[in-house]
Amino acid sequence: MVLRIIKPEIYYTGVIDWDRRLFDEIIPLPEGTSYNSYLIKASKKNALIDTADPNKKEEFLDNLKKVDIKIDYIISNHAEQDHSGLIGEVLDIYEDAKVITSPKCKELLKELFLIEDDKFITVEDGETLSLGDKTLKFIYTPWVHWPETMVTYLEEEKILFSCDFFGSHIATSQLFVKNEEHVYNAAKRYYAEIMMPFRLFIRKNMEKINELDIDIVAPSHGPLYPKPELIFEAYNAWISDNTKNEVIIPYISMHGSTKKMVDYLVSILIENGITVKPFNLTVSDIGELAMSLVDASTLVIATPTILTGPHPSVVYATYLVNALRPKLKFISIIGSYGWGGRTVEILKGILTNLKPEIIDPVIIKGFPKENDFKSIDNLADEIFKKHKEIGLID
Ligand SMILES: Cc1cc2nc3c(=O)[nH]c(=O)nc-3n(C[C@H](O)[C@H](O)[C@H](O)COP(=O)(O)O)c2cc1C
Repeated sequence: MVLRIIKPEIYYTGVIDWDRRLFDEIIPLPEGTSYNSYLIKASKKNALIDTADPNKKEEFLDNLKKVDIKIDYIISNHAEQDHSGLIGEVLDIYEDAKVITSPKCKELLKELFLIEDDKFITVEDGETLSLGDKTLKFIYTPWVHWPETMVTYLEEEKILFSCDFFGSHIATSQLFVKNEEHVYNAAKRYYAEIMMPFRLFIRKNMEKINELDIDIVAPSHGPLYPKPELIFEAYNAWISDNTKNEVIIPYISMHGSTKKMVDYLVSILIENGITVKPFNLTVSDIGELAMSLVDASTLVIATPTILTGPHPSVVYATYLVNALRPKLKFISIIGSYGWGGRTVEILKGILTNLKPEIIDPVIIKGFPKENDFKSIDNLADEIFKKHKEIGLID
């Protein structure tokens, strides 16, 4: 990789992973990702901010060699392996370096990477560290997205090294955001998959960030924000309680009956001026589904009954929705069965994290008939009424 310079004496030492297509063995990465790391040279001490994923060891260590300065401190904002996995290797090369982190992160780093106790210096929330002519301030930001996470603020240059907070999974040759719409969408996908479960914690952390005067946000994945308003405004909207006039329908249909119900419901919702996004789970990118849940008001889960319960792909999607904790206001379930089962009961049992209002499910026998379409009409009317009640429709 070429050595990239953010500002004089502030280097980008991260690595671009163009080929990675799956993260945590669950999150699709249609555009790859990057593991951002930064090296700050100062008059007295030099500090490295985070490392990179261990699968990029060679490239990462090459980047450090290219800067060719002694590393005194390794700031670890977050213990997850894609940022911290090469701390041990850096310590092997720079033997006197110390790892600066929060006490919680220290404990995790010791457990995950077997780093010895005497390599650490822990910092409290709000503590500063002087590097000579540059000062780092450490701000705890718990649950973005692990309990130990913190961000590091370079006071003189007004740069926020935010680790996973405000990140996006994009492999790009552009160091800074150029195409704002493109990065907005990638950041929204990232928020949906990684940050959405912690919406209420993020609110508190945003208050802390708002107190800082920030010129550049330098996250751990994706390009840097030279105009941080873009990402701050986006996060403020996503973490708010406001939802949009949108209905999301993840569905499976083995033989077409549930599909017929979905198609019918989609048409009526469109007629009623409601934005609707059906996701056929056999072909959908689960990240697109997650992204759609950031703003949606209503979820309608559609499934046939198979072996007495919902289809396993629907169970998976429902489990994920529950884990992601979107700010949905209403949920319903539709589907077809042959002779009997516990489909609705099982799905409701999965959705324990969410507290939306449940709109009466429409579960029919076999292929939908006249009366069944009427029931779907009623469901659509009910969704329209509910959206109107909460001010989404005039
Ligand atoms: C493998 C398989 C297992 C099924 N198990 C059940 C069941 O346990 N209970 C039930 O009521 N219907 C069961 N059915 C029947 C389907 O629920 C029924 O045919 C339904 O209309 C299919 O909807 P679809 O056309 O949307 O796939 C099963 C069907 C298949 C293919």
